[in-house]
Amino acid sequence: MSKITRRKAIYLGSTALAATVAAKTLAQPPTLKDYASKKGLIYGSAGAYSKLSQDQEFADRFIQECAILTPENDLKWKHIHPQPNQYNFSRGDWLLKFAQHHRLKMRGHTLVWHSALPNWVKETVNSQTAEATLRDHINTVAGHYRGKIHSWDVVNEAILVENEHPLGLRKTPWFEWLGEDYIELAFRAAAEADPNALLFYNDYGLDYDNNYEEKRRNAVLKLLERLKAKGTPIHGLGLQAHLSGANTRFNAEKLRQFLAYVASLDLKIMVTELDVADQRLPYDHLERDQRVADVYEMYLSTVLDEPNVIGVVTWGLSDRYTWLSGFRPREDKKPVRVLPLDQELKPKLAWESMVKVFQSDSFVLTKPPLIPRSRFLSSISEIA
Ligand code: XIL
Repeated sequence: MSKITRRKAIYLGSTALAATVAAKTLAQPPTLKDYASKKGLIYGSAGAYSKLSQDQEFADRFIQECAILTPENDLKWKHIHPQPNQYNFSRGDWLLKFAQHHRLKMRGHTLVWHSALPNWVKETVNSQTAEATLRDHINTVAGHYRGKIHSWDVVNEAILVENEHPLGLRKTPWFEWLGEDYIELAFRAAAEADPNALLFYNDYGLDYDNNYEEKRRNAVLKLLERLKAKGTPIHGLGLQAHLSGANTRFNAEKLRQFLAYVASLDLKIMVTELDVADQRLPYDHLERDQRVADVYEMYLSTVLDEPNVIGVVTWGLSDRYTWLSGFRPREDKKPVRVLPLDQELKPKLAWESMVKVFQSDSFVLTKPPLIPRSRFLSSISEIA
């Protein structure tokens, strides 16, 4: 029992109360959000209305571990804007209430994405109407949640180097209709609709030491630089960080350099969708969990060295509910073990690794000097 608790109990003059307070204190050992916050970070998870509203045990655990919630699908176009003149805020509103009631912050995910578009967008929008459609959506959705959202993923996954655009931009419907300016337009509209939210560009494939992801990192940096140069209201980069337990090829130096560049543009960084797929890992739970945990640790221990990183969000909390069961199923069809908690909501080695990283001091005592930008970005020309 802590001193404060003991004093409070004596003051109230009741041993029964003291016991209750003690039991409460003991019943709630520190969780990921507590360890993260001691390091000045926010920790949370994606969560779906369909799960948090139905599974009380899961919702209770979610509240214990998380200080921020990202609606996994409920704010995406096809859910929130199913018809041209119809918005459906019911599930998003439920999640916001849930978050507020339990003192979690909420992220907004996502205002502009090529995926999860309702059919009507591709069927009815054209280059004449695209700008008005996009503005209306952003005004309405970000406006609806104005002042309530910690950070919006304004634009999601705008880079696809294989599309061979000189800047590595993905040929999304919005790009085809509006050209590259759709990105800046989206940030400006979001800033108007919710001046208090942090506005993020969010993308995947920025983590590993290989040629492909190197090109993606360069393309993202180029994009961020251009946006900042134009005075676009953008405040951060979201690293989705969908990692793989079978791939441990990180290069801490390169990753740190990349993040240092992002930070030098006066941008915050957040890990927004972290998970570690367990395809191609052995079935044995201990071996598998260890490997997955190692990847959580390797990645976070490098990323969290960058002082501009403000938080970590995993794409799900428990193996009970994860998109990887469908997106990256195991070859042996056995349940995946990819998140901090197992299906029974018990902490796994991945949870312990995250705690370890949150507790550790940075290994980097002085920040490395930035390599001249021209050298770092040299391979950008190879994209085209
Ligand atoms: C995924 C959800 O987890 C799934 O439930 C859904 O079927 C597809 O989308 N990058 C993103 C997220 O930005 O929105 C995606 O979420 C995962 C990849």
